[in-house]
This record gives sequence, structure tokens and C-alpha cells, in this order.
Amino acid sequence: MTVLTHRLTVRHAAGSYPVVVTPDDLAGLGPLTRELLGVRRIALVTDENVARFHLEAAEHALRGAGHSVEVLVLPPGEANKTPASLEHLWLSMASLGFDRGAVVCALGGGIVGDVAGLCAATWHRGVDLVQVPTTLLAQVASSVGGKTAVNLGGTKNVIGAFHPPRLVYASLATLTTLPVRELRAGLGEVVKHAVIGRPELLSQLEAEAEELVGARPQTLAPLVAACIEVKRDIVERDEREAGPRQVLNFGHTFGHAIETVTNHALLHGEAVAVGMVAACRLAEALGLSTPHVRTAIVSALRACELPHDDRAYWTQAVLNAILRDKKVRGGQVQFVIAADLGHVATTPIDLDVLHRFFVKPPASTEPESTYDAVRSDP
Ligand SMILES: NC(=O)c1ccc[n+]([C@@H]2O[C@H](COP(=O)([O-])OP(=O)(O)OC[C@H]3O[C@@H](n4cnc5c(N)ncnc54)[C@H](O)[C@@H]3O)[C@@H](O)[C@H]2O)c1
Ligand SMILES: [Zn+2]
Repeated sequence: MTVLTHRLTVRHAAGSYPVVVTPDDLAGLGPLTRELLGVRRIALVTDENVARFHLEAAEHALRGAGHSVEVLVLPPGEANKTPASLEHLWLSMASLGFDRGAVVCALGGGIVGDVAGLCAATWHRGVDLVQVPTTLLAQVASSVGGKTAVNLGGTKNVIGAFHPPRLVYASLATLTTLPVRELRAGLGEVVKHAVIGRPELLSQLEAEAEELVGARPQTLAPLVAACIEVKRDIVERDEREAGPRQVLNFGHTFGHAIETVTNHALLHGEAVAVGMVAACRLAEALGLSTPHVRTAIVSALRACELPHDDRAYWTQAVLNAILRDKKVRGGQVQFVIAADLGHVATTPIDLDVLHRFFVKPPASTEPESTYDAVRSDP
């Protein structure tokens, strides 16, 4: 089967950038960066794991196009998505004499992308950023849309900036070295995009997930491109998350809280998987959704061998983490819920209702339970 390169354009307030989804390796990165940015001095940021597999090829591609390249390697993992890592990048760039003409190139998963992205957003008040996502999650979700961040204490992404890249270069060939658990976690975000804007992908995932995970990752190209299209269509309408973009947080309110409470025992995509199920259960109990939405999501998650049982997570600790993460306004918290497949929206939920659920989790086996019934629950 011939897998073609997909090219998309994402527009934003200050311009636009291409997103290239290619079955090929990193060789094409050099000519593309040169074409878009000219010959430049590049801070190539990666983590130790990605460096082992893909740094040489990335350096070779960039140097081959005439760029000068300095390599900055971060320790891997969410525990390192911190202000300390950001400061390390700043200090390294200062000692290497990078100025406002610097280009930051993020070679890695969502963590490298978010930290290096925030470095690019802040270095001399903002320099060019190239995203080279090497996890499925980063290719379908984090590399597109311009959000960058680090965590602070126990709270995810609390220090951040919107800083669109100049180029996203997603080489599916880099996924061949990705641990299979990470590949599956990326499918969690694929399911999310499907629920938001491409429900037909859910049945495709249900039927083909095993094959997709087992086959060469290059075969994921159409799926990755479809997810990026869903995200593109949303971020173009709402670059700064004033409204519509919030739907991309489907599953993330619970998901972030679960990540925090379990101390990242669950990967981001796994936590989002469980978070989507929890959000569905909540919506059903409020009479805002029906069980078939949750069933369709659970079937796809099961086929992807992702966690999908939320019942252990209706705890006070998870609620506390949600409330730390979310602004409470007028006694209400905004939640993203799927009223139906392809119909995801934010809705305010009363804090006292939420409190009650975390004392007595919603029994979604009783879909007929209504908002009022829940409110009168002791
Ligand atoms: N900015 C956004 O819009 C956005 C959206 C979704 C998620 N995120 C963030 O993304 C992060 C999660 O990203 P992730 O799942 O990519 O995690 P990650 O960056 O930690 O990568 C997962 C693991 O795989 C390793 N790895 C990466 N690419 C590899 C490869 N090709 N071969 C072998 N190993 C490889 C990494 O070193 C790491 O150990 C979270 O912090 C989340 O908050 C951001
Ligand atoms: Zn996410």
C-alpha cells in the first residue's frame, strides 16, 4: 500500500503554517525548514529517549540544509515538564549565544513540544518554533494549535503561552521506535478527535485498532491527518480558547486530575481515555447525554486496549484536583461533555451537584436518572 504525504495549512491571527504528515523519515525536515525559514541557527531540543533514536537523523537533515545546530537534551517524562527544564533551556541558549534570530526545533513527544514551545514563546519575547512530533499523541494533538506550557507543582500546564509554530513536521517513520503503550496512549487522543468531529473513525478504530498498532506506523497517516483536520478546524475558529476550542479538552478535566492524583501512573492519553468515560457518565446522570455515546467510546477504547473504567476515580482527591485545575464561577464549573457523537460542547455544572457525585458516583446503568433526580440525591 502506498501511503501518501498529507499537507495541511493551519491559519492563525498572525499568519499560517504547514503541517506535513509523512510516512518518510526526517530527511525532508532540512529542505522544508530552509524553504520556510531560510538558513538559520537552530536550538534542537529533544529528550534522552528520542535522542537515542532520532537525534542523529534530525541533526543530519538540518545541517545538510545549511543550518547551524546546537543540541539541548532534556530528561524525559512529565516530572520534567517544569519551570526548571525551561530555565535550563534558557540558560543553555544564553550560554550558546542564541539571540532573537534563534529557531527552536522541538524533536520529541508532547512534553518536549510543550517545554521547547514555551522556550520559543519566551526567548527574546518569541522566536520561530518548529515542531517535529515523534509520538502519536504529539502528532495528532499537541504539536498543532500553538499551546505551550509547563506544569507548576501538582498542576498541569499552569505556566504557558500561545505560540504557533512555523512548521509541524510529523514523520510517521519516527513512531517505529515508540513503545507500544505510548502508541496506544496516542490513540486516546485519536478517539477524542473522533468523538468531537469524525464519529465514523470510532467504528474504524474498533475494527482496525489491533491492525493499526501492529502494522507499520506509516499506515496511520490517514488517521493522523484526519485528527489534525479536526483540531485545525477548531483552533482556526478560536486560537486563544475563548470558546469553541474548549471542546478539545473533552476528557481532560477528569484526565488531568487522574494524572495528578495517580502521580502520572497513567500516561496522558490513558488518563484522557478514562476521563472521557467519566465525562460521559456525568453527562448521562445529568440527562445531557445517552449511554450509546459512552458505549461507542468504550468500545473504541477497548479495541485500542486503553483503560476505560472510570469507577475507581470518583474520589475526593480527584475532585480536589479538578477544583484546583478549574475556575469555579458563580458556584459552577465548566465541563466539556458529548451530548452525542460529533456534538461536544461546554456546559456549566453546579459545584454542589459535583460534590454529591463524588460522594455517590453517578450510576450510569440508570440512564434515566435526571438532573433533578441527581440534585435530590442525599
Ligand atoms: N500543547 C497541547 O496542545 C497539548 C495537547 C495534548 C497533550 N499535551 C501534553 O503532551 C504531553 C504528553 O505528550 P506525549 O504523550 O507525547 O509524552 P512524552 O513527550 O513524554 O513522550 C512519551 C515517551 O516516549 C518517548 N518518546 C517520544 N518519542 C519517541 C520515539 N519516537 N521513540 C521512542 N521513544 C519516544 C519520550 O521520551 C517519553 O518517554 C502532556 O504533558 C500533555 O499535557 C499538550
Ligand atoms: Zn491531551
